Amino acid sequence: MAQKLLKTPLPDGGLGWSVIDHKEIDAVTSVLKQPQHLFRYPLPGYESNCQGFERELRENLGVKGALMVASGTSALTLCLSAYGIGPGDEVIIPGYTYISTASAVTNAGAVPVVADIDESLGLDPADVERRITPSTKAVILVHMQGVPGRVRAVREVCKKHNLKLIEDACQAVGATYFGKHVGMESDAFAWSLNYYKILTCGEGGVFFSNDQDAFLRGIYAHDPGSPMWKTGLARGAKLSPYTQLGIRGNEVCAAIARVQLAKLDTILGKTRALKKRLLACLDQPVNYRLQHVDDPEGDCGISICLIAADKERAAVMSNLMDEQGLEIGSAFNEGFPDRHIYSYWDAILNKESATPAGYPWKDANYKGNVQYAKDMCPKTLDILSRSLRFSMNVNMTEQNMEEVASVINYADKSV
Ligand SMILES: Cc1ncc(COP(=O)(O)O)c(C=O)c1O
Repeated sequence: MAQKLLKTPLPDGGLGWSVIDHKEIDAVTSVLKQPQHLFRYPLPGYESNCQGFERELRENLGVKGALMVASGTSALTLCLSAYGIGPGDEVIIPGYTYISTASAVTNAGAVPVVADIDESLGLDPADVERRITPSTKAVILVHMQGVPGRVRAVREVCKKHNLKLIEDACQAVGATYFGKHVGMESDAFAWSLNYYKILTCGEGGVFFSNDQDAFLRGIYAHDPGSPMWKTGLARGAKLSPYTQLGIRGNEVCAAIARVQLAKLDTILGKTRALKKRLLACLDQPVNYRLQHVDDPEGDCGISICLIAADKERAAVMSNLMDEQGLEIGSAFNEGFPDRHIYSYWDAILNKESATPAGYPWKDANYKGNVQYAKDMCPKTLDILSRSLRFSMNVNMTEQNMEEVASVINYADKSV
């Protein structure tokens, strides 16, 4: 049998978790060796790991406010609560994002409105504008798979309609947009540090904002009491404290996250080099286009997406690649309930509520009338059905990338 074009097996592995070594283990051990310091609000004269992590984030990113919390979903919820967005309000989110983006909106008490993506695989600015209603208060732009979305164009729409712009950078930790970290020029942004992400501490998230008042509100919202008792934060503050959630960051996760943060450049150095090599080895495409990226320099390099001219060609290319040892299916597989695609968000589409009163859709403050259907974002489903996506991990090599490119080139020519 003729040798396959993919000669070298692709190594298993992921992102942050694949670089865990004795440094993370030592960091956790040192937390446990000082159990009197196991709380994020420390004893006087001591900097906790949560505080240290937040300081390092401020120093590294140049951001004014960074707050370690329990997850990316909770960090996104704070992005909204920080601006008083809740019952009665609509928030526009893309049809291609993890269902958590929608949950963050309902957590805050607001109603998610789903808009189409374009070939950036992020929000389509024109569709965002079409979906604005008198209830719209904010837009969440999601940077999927490490690729920054169309920040400039979406920001223009938000400015024109006086909407808050929130960036969901849960999958794009470390991504930049024309030289600045994604989110830095928006109203607030969120990272996830869960197991799958570029940096991980198992579970965790970070809420960021450069707006001092909004940041303070985020701090109030994340913990019913400790910030007020432990830090004297609210003393003299012009905003009265309020209580909402219990999503404090914890010391063990923060200790791991600090070590991971110090490895961010190494991780992204690796993935960006892999993507560069792969792109350099691709021939001029005939049957597909590469995903649109506004600023390729800011891309984390953890994925590549080929958007075929039509669904049929995507299927033929996928089969040809499979025969050569490279498994790349389309992003939208009929039948597989991928919760990154809105048509599988049953809980949202059916307006399933945590309360018999039907909150947030039936909240008395809500004057809108959002309607959901599985086919309400046809462009999203069409693009995803033609999208062939490959993910890089930190154990891959340039040799792997050269062979992946040869399979893609072969499939494109053989369609
Ligand atoms: C785009 C996006 N937003 C939000 C989240 C939520 O993050 P977490 O799992 O930390 O709550 C995720 C996580 O998978 C995500 O991929």
